[in-house]
This record gives sequence, C-alpha cells and structure tokens, in this order.
Amino acid sequence: MWINCNLIHLSTILPLIINISLCMATCYNGEYEINGQCCPMCDAGKRVYLHCDEFSSITCVSCTKDTYTESSNGLRECLQCSVCDLSNNLRVIKACTVTSNTACEPLPGHYCIEVNGKSCLKAEKHSTCSPGQYINQTGTEFRDTVCAPCPAGSYSDGTLCKLHTNCESFKKITIKPGTEKDDAECTNDEQSYKLPLILMFGVCVLVVIVVIVVIIVKKKKSYRLAAQDPHSRL
Ligand SMILES: *[C@@H]1O[C@H](CO)[C@@H](O)[C@H](O)[C@H]1NC(C)=O
Repeated sequence: MWINCNLIHLSTILPLIINISLCMATCYNGEYEINGQCCPMCDAGKRVYLHCDEFSSITCVSCTKDTYTESSNGLRECLQCSVCDLSNNLRVIKACTVTSNTACEPLPGHYCIEVNGKSCLKAEKHSTCSPGQYINQTGTEFRDTVCAPCPAGSYSDGTLCKLHTNCESFKKITIKPGTEKDDAECTNDEQSYKLPLILMFGVCVLVVIVVIVVIIVKKKKSYRLAAQDPHSRL
C-alpha cells in the first residue's frame, strides 16, 4: 500500500518538517519511501524497474548476471558481485547468485588478513620458519604459521627440532659440533680419524729415508771414483 503525502500535506496545518517526518514514518516494514510515497519493496534477487505512484503499483525486475540483491529493497540497480582476485590470493567458495554475493576464501597455504562477513577480501602466504626454528602452530585459513626457536642442543631445517647427535655416546669422535641448523658430525672411531695423520707421517718418514739412502749411495759412488782417479785430490 502507498499513502499519498500530498493529501496529508493539504489536510494539515502542521509545519512542513513534521509533515515530512510523518511521511517517512508512515511507510510500513517492507515498504520504502519515494517522492513522498510508500512503495512495496522488491524481493531479494530483484530490483525496482518502476517506482509505484498514484496510479500503478511497483514494477520489479530480476537482477542480471553478476549482480545481486541480498534482501527486499527499493534499489534501482542491483549490486555488483565481488571477484575473488588471484592477486589477493583468493579463490571462490560460493559463486554469486541473484540473492547472494560471491564468497571468497584464501588459496591453500594462505591466510585471510581482511574479512567481510563470511568472505575473505585479502589473503597472504603463510610464513615459513627459519632454520633453528620449529613450527609451533601450523598456519590456518585465518592465522599465520607460528614459529618458535629450537631448544638448546637441537637443530632444525625450519619444521621440527632434532637433538644434536652426541658422538661420544656412540663411542665416536665429534669432528664438527652441531649448530642451530646442522647436526654434529662424528667419525667412526679413533683409528679412522687418525689414519690420514698416520699415513701422512709414514709418507714423510719414507721420503726422508729415501733421500738419506740416495745421498749415501751418491757419496759412496764419488769415493769410489776418487779412488780410481790418481789425479783426484780426494
Ligand atoms: C607454542 O604454542 C602453544 C600453543 O599451542 C603456546 O602455548 C606456546 O607458548 C607456544 N610456544 C612458543 C615458544 O611460542
């Protein structure tokens, strides 16, 4: 139903301002006010094509593709459906209908940093934890990854902390102590650790012996030559 405000205006002696507020207040729930008249609203999924007037009721039309109205309304245009933008790291969870806007969610491995109702407006990639840290709480659709430092004596690649190998407890020798991102390095046993040193020492001794032998042989040779040569002073 609509009420003609002109009639009210003519039949009243109250100031215009009260007349207007009276008109505004006259529209029932499910009606909207236009040009001093109350028109019934269009249903969700539709919009106003022609407002009602003294002579005819309202004309509504359905929203077209990629537009919607969520509730009864007196709108001349339907609302534009949102787009789940890849550049905002979003994907569609619910396509737009004439009565509901598109709903977006973060891409896998991302979390929402801006929400509007049930839809995400903007998402960001989950952080990765650094070496020396572990994932205390995995990232969700709504929350970033939570990293925490590995306890002393352990190391990680950024996921789980593992204790440094204690070489001595395996009767091995530490050749490199553990760091926050690498395990300690052990060698099998004392012998294999010292073997290269022993070999090197052995080679040195051998070289010295060979040199000494060569010198002695040469000396002996030159004595012998001197003995055969009468002009030699030796
Ligand atoms: C790890 O997460 C738990 C909750 O799951 C929290 O209570 C704790 O403080 C966190 N630890 C660190 C070191 O952040």
